[in-house]
Amino acid sequence: MEKLVVLSGAGISAESGIKTFRDSDGLWENYPVEEVATADSWYSYGRKALMLDFYNQRRRQLRDAAPNLAHKTVADLEKYFDVTVATQNIDNLHERAGSTNVIHLHGELTKARGEYSDYYTAQDIGYQDILIGSKTAKGEQLRPHIVWFGEAVPELDKAARAVGNADILVIVGTSLAVYPAAGLVHYTKTGCRVYLIDPKDVSSSVRFTHIKEKATVGMQQLRNQLIKTI
Ligand code: OAD
Repeated sequence: MEKLVVLSGAGISAESGIKTFRDSDGLWENYPVEEVATADSWYSYGRKALMLDFYNQRRRQLRDAAPNLAHKTVADLEKYFDVTVATQNIDNLHERAGSTNVIHLHGELTKARGEYSDYYTAQDIGYQDILIGSKTAKGEQLRPHIVWFGEAVPELDKAARAVGNADILVIVGTSLAVYPAAGLVHYTKTGCRVYLIDPKDVSSSVRFTHIKEKATVGMQQLRNQLIKTI
């Protein structure tokens, strides 16, 4: 089986009703990113309650959202390819659509960990809110299991290895604006076929075939095209 990697971003979940970050009326237009999504805001500036509230809202919204046809089509590709999903999304819609091999580069909304604990100690919390005073068994304040600006991306190497082995790379719904995740496209081996699905133009220094459609339409088109050539 050929190896296929899907590098996804907020755009794949847009048709599930989850806002992207940088489109007009996107999340970063309505919330100051430096206040709600930076390590400094939590650890140095004491904005814990504001940040918890922001991610509690995202988690509640996720509870009420459902995977769309793009997530489902990605999951369906496992019948034909050895698929790895490397997502920048903190939602669980790929998993809920049936994908079995998902790397979360920027963390997961449905997990939490102690604020001074290792990344890999995170535990499932489902769709529960995290509050000031919500603690680990050892009495440490819980924080969202999100990679904030200013923090390392622990899953990056794993994703880079997957991209480096891929025969096909599908980039879907990401502006490729945030590093180091955006730099993953540079790990492709010679001969890897690269497709990008996005209704808008996205600039990248790698060469790709642009399917200029929304994720639901573009993923189905690409799936049909790819399975014809197996
Ligand atoms: P962006 O909001 O930067 O980009 C979303 C992309 O999705 C844009 O290129 C849109 O054109 C595209 N898009 C919008 N609707 C779409 C649809 N229906 N189908 C397909 N594409 C669509 O989101 P990301 O690239 O995911 O990180 O952002 C990367 C990171 O920036 C996020 O993980 C988050 C954010 O800051 C952190 O919070 C650490």
